[in-house]
Amino acid sequence: MDAIKCLLERRSIRSFTDRKIEKNDLETIVKAAYHAPSAMNRQLCRFTVVQNAEVIEALAQCLRVKLGRDEGYCFYRPNAVILCSTPRDNAHGIEDCAVAMENIMLAAHALGIGSVWINQFKGVCDDPGVRAELNKIGVPENNLVWGMAALGYAADDAVRNFDKNPDVVNWVM
Ligand SMILES: Cc1cc2nc3c(=O)[nH]c(=O)nc-3n(C[C@H](O)[C@H](O)[C@H](O)COP(=O)(O)O)c2cc1C
Repeated sequence: MDAIKCLLERRSIRSFTDRKIEKNDLETIVKAAYHAPSAMNRQLCRFTVVQNAEVIEALAQCLRVKLGRDEGYCFYRPNAVILCSTPRDNAHGIEDCAVAMENIMLAAHALGIGSVWINQFKGVCDDPGVRAELNKIGVPENNLVWGMAALGYAADDAVRNFDKNPDVVNWVM
């Protein structure tokens, strides 16, 4: 897919089918993640790919407890998730994760796979219940998760918001 078409067409998807994402597609998506720019090229982001429904449910459960979310909360029931984390002392951790997250979402879209940024780990990674789940999936103990991508094939009823504001550009020519 043309790169400009891909980035103009990508939209957050919050309703997924049960279709499994093939391993080679997940590999392409996470490869796009670690090819993202990073401050001083330090490449400190770590990407944790989870495609096990029980583990995804356990991640949602620890957030439900911590954040008081209702029982239905499960990141829109994706087929896979990718957590982006960096060491807590990375001064550019948020930015490093953000550009990697965009690469993930664009690569997914190029492959026909829907995605949405899930922000709920931000600020709660040191909660003991949350950290216990992050430990189980190998997120380094010293890392903070700044974003998680929920991934899956878009359901027929998935809503796409095409409302973008062009009045945000100031030209000085
Ligand atoms: C930093 C950040 C955090 C976000 N967190 C969430 C989230 O927790 N849940 C969610 O459904 N969407 C989340 N989103 C997706 C935005 O709501 C979405 O990008 C926005 O509504 C624009 O829609 P679009 O992605 O379709 O262009 C987040 C996006 C960003 C950039």
